Amino acid sequence: MNKIVLFKVFMSPNIDKALLDVIHSGWIGEGPKVKEFEEKLSDYFGNPYLTTLNNGTAGLHLAYHLAQNQDEYKGYHNSNRNEIITTAITCTATNTPIISTGAKIVWADVDPITGNIDPKSIENKITKNTKAIAMVHWGGNPCEIDKINAIAKKYNIKTVEDGAHSMGMEYKGKKIGNHSDYTILSLQAIKHVTSVDGGILMLKSQKDYERVKLLRWYGIDRTIREGIDLRCELDVVEAGYKFHMNDVCAIIGTKNFEHVEDILSKYRDNAKFYNEAFKGQSAIITTPENPDGRSSYWLYTIHLNNRDEVMKNLDQDGIMSSKVHARNDIHSMFKEFQTTLVNAQKFNNTHLCIPVGWWVSKDDREYIAEKVIKYAK
Ligand SMILES: Cc1ncc(COP(=O)(O)O)c(C=O)c1O
Repeated sequence: MNKIVLFKVFMSPNIDKALLDVIHSGWIGEGPKVKEFEEKLSDYFGNPYLTTLNNGTAGLHLAYHLAQNQDEYKGYHNSNRNEIITTAITCTATNTPIISTGAKIVWADVDPITGNIDPKSIENKITKNTKAIAMVHWGGNPCEIDKINAIAKKYNIKTVEDGAHSMGMEYKGKKIGNHSDYTILSLQAIKHVTSVDGGILMLKSQKDYERVKLLRWYGIDRTIREGIDLRCELDVVEAGYKFHMNDVCAIIGTKNFEHVEDILSKYRDNAKFYNEAFKGQSAIITTPENPDGRSSYWLYTIHLNNRDEVMKNLDQDGIMSSKVHARNDIHSMFKEFQTTLVNAQKFNNTHLCIPVGWWVSKDDREYIAEKVIKYAK
């Protein structure tokens, strides 16, 4: 029996020639293909301040860096008292870069069903050291972005949207990338659109945009200028990273991105089917879509009292399911920041993600729904 997988790499059938052309073009680093990809993405999201990176985690790292060094670079070693409020219901990638910038993690709780950070849990965690609030749109279902941004504004702190799951997500009529100070997306292998590995960082201000273009390549300005020997004659003001995207990844991303609407509509159509199929099933709690937005449905998440048993049974019936991410505050690396998170634990006890992507056929989804209903207690 062929297993119905939870994730699958989408690779455009039109990629081969374009990819070979780039590989043999003599320019495989960051060059014209990155620029073209960025222009296409920028049009799609409606944000001119968009940069590509080599992964989404790099975007988070830069966002936390900017939030802690807003006007001038003071150096990470001065920032070890800074605090960033974040969620434990996410990939560890949301939170490890906080530590890398030297800041402290302050956990806020989540909604026990959606898994999204709960705005009510944020405000009493703010101190004079708080520099940013990070929100993760679980599975691409928008957080309460406006409420979180209102809190941030009140205390003059920054907001970071981790939209790694959220290609195509909308909130209050606008695509992701237009609401908060810093927004990242991931173009990693199994995301809606992949560039093999890659990330997007969208910004609110031109100043941040200009800075990120430097920070993603050691802090050096890559603009080719007549009479200037690149890398050798320009002063580097702020220490940066090697976080840029290359032309090989960019051409793969560009070609896959041509299919974005089709890919998204398949995820959404399968999610709609499950919403109907599970209606009235008292043993299955479905996740409500934020009524102010539109989920990208990278994950279709349900809650089941007998989650672990259902997972095993589905596996035997050839259906892959998973928690995908578990509470990550409990890792040893985060020991010093531990706190009680009642709703994160509730979410963690019952959540399960079932296949919903472009590869899930009408027969597959009927089979999956039937089996979930059969095993849920
Ligand atoms: C919620 C979340 N944030 C960040 C990331 C990191 O993205 P990347 O793998 O592109 O670095 C992931 C990866 O899947 C993720 O799920």
